[in-house]
Amino acid sequence: MHPIRGTFVSLGLILSLTVTAAPVEADTATPGAPGAGDPLFPLDGNGGYHALHYGLDLSYEPATAHLDARAVVTARATQALSRFGLDLSGLTVRSVRVGSAPAAFRREGQELVITPRTPLRRGQVFRTTVTYDGTPAAVNEPGDPYDGWNVTDHGAFVAGEPQGSRTWFPLNNHPSDKSAFDVTITVPEGYTAVSNGRLAALRTRHGHSTFHWHSPEPMAGYLATATIGKFRTESYRTRSGLPVYNAVDPREAAASAPVLKRLPEVLEWESGLFGPYPFSAAGAIVDHAPQIPYYALETQTRPLYCKAPTIITLVHETAHQWFGDSVSLSRWQDIWLNEGFATYAEWLWAEQHGGPTAQRFFDDAYAKPATDPVWAFPPALPADYTHLFDDPVYTRGAMALHKIRTLVGDHAFFDVLRAWAARHRDGHGTTAEFTALTRTVSHKDPGPTVATWLYGKGKPARP
Ligand code: ARG
Ligand code: ZN
Repeated sequence: MHPIRGTFVSLGLILSLTVTAAPVEADTATPGAPGAGDPLFPLDGNGGYHALHYGLDLSYEPATAHLDARAVVTARATQALSRFGLDLSGLTVRSVRVGSAPAAFRREGQELVITPRTPLRRGQVFRTTVTYDGTPAAVNEPGDPYDGWNVTDHGAFVAGEPQGSRTWFPLNNHPSDKSAFDVTITVPEGYTAVSNGRLAALRTRHGHSTFHWHSPEPMAGYLATATIGKFRTESYRTRSGLPVYNAVDPREAAASAPVLKRLPEVLEWESGLFGPYPFSAAGAIVDHAPQIPYYALETQTRPLYCKAPTIITLVHETAHQWFGDSVSLSRWQDIWLNEGFATYAEWLWAEQHGGPTAQRFFDDAYAKPATDPVWAFPPALPADYTHLFDDPVYTRGAMALHKIRTLVGDHAFFDVLRAWAARHRDGHGTTAEFTALTRTVSHKDPGPTVATWLYGKGKPARP
C-alpha cells in the first residue's frame, strides 16, 4: 500500500470516528474532469455535470464580424463540484455567474474553468451565465480549417463537427451530452439568422431583426448552427404536418430549387425505411461560401450546405437526422455509425430510384486495390481525429452495413435499422450495442461480419 495514502486513510478514519455528527452522505466537492473521456478528443466535453439547456443570446454585425453574446447554460451536477469547465476557444469572456453570484474564471487553452462562489452539490441543477464577445474564427486543425464559425462575404457559415462549436459559445462539447437549445440571434435588418428547430419569434425594430429558434429535442453541441446571410426563406408544412423552414442564398437559388423541392419526398421515403422522423421541425440552409471547398453538415433539423446540394447529399444529411442526430455517438471512434449509415442511405436511394443497386456500389468499392485509401484502417477504429471523415468510415462503413444486410436478409435488416432508431431515439448508441441489437432482431450472428468489416485491418480477403 502507498504509505501516504495509508496515512491519509487512517487520518480519515480517526476523523470520522471522532466527528460522529458529520453527515455521512456529504460529498467532498472536487474539480470536474477537463474532458468527457473521449480517447480521440481528450479535452472535449467536461466531467462532473450534464448540460440540460443552452440559452444563447447572440448579436452579430456582419460588417465587422463582431459577436456580442450571452450564454446561459443550465446543467445538473453529477458530482459535488468545486469547479468545472466549459469548452470555449477565442473570444473574450467578460463575466461569469453561477446562479446569481459572480464566479471566478480563467482561460486554459480550450477550457473556460469556472469556480463558483460556493461548491455545487451532487444532483444540483445550476445555471451558468457567460457574457462574452469578440471576432469568432473557425478552429484551424490539421486538414480541417472550416470547423466552427466561418465568416462569409455576407454573414457567417456556422458548422461545428467535430469540435467547432466552442468557437462561438461555451459548452460541454461532446456528443455524449445532449441538451435542448434556445438560440436568439440579432442581426442588421435585411439579414437572416438561422438556427435549429422552430422559429419561435421574429421581431424587427430600430434596424435590427431578432430571430428566436427553439429546439426542444436533445441535441449534441456540434449540431448547433447560427448561420447568417442575406437569404431567401420559405416555410411550409409537409403533408404529415411537419414544419419546414428553408433559407437559401440567392446565388444558389436556381441550382438548389429542384433539389430542395424534394425534401418532403426524401423525408417520407426515409421515414418509410428508418421509422418516424425524430424531430419536430425540418428544413435546409443553403449558403454561398466559395472559400470552403465543400462542406455539408447534418445540423439538427436543418442541414447546412456551403452551396446548392445534389439530391444525394440531401439524402445523406437528412438520413443523419436519424443516424447521428437522434441516435448520437457516445465516443467519436464510432463515427461510422453516423457516416456509414448516411452513406448507405445514399446507396439505398439510388437503388430505389433507378440508379445502381447497393450491391453494385459494394462491388465497385471492393474492386479497389488493397493499396486504396478505402482500406487504410478499419471503420470502427479510426486511429486519431484527423481520420474521422476519411473513406474507410464512409464507404467501408456502408460496405459493412451491406454485408450485414446480405447476412440477415432485407426484412430483418430494415427491422434492425428501425429498431436502432426507435430504441436509441434522442439518445446514444455504440458499435457493440448495434451488433447486439442486430443479433437480437435477426437471430443471426453478425460477429464474424463485424470482426472483418468493421474491425479487420486491410482489405478483407473475400467480398
Ligand atoms: N458529417 C458531415 C457529413 O458527412 C461531415 C463533416 C466533416 N467535418 C469536418 N470538420 N470536416 O455530412
Ligand atoms: Zn455525413
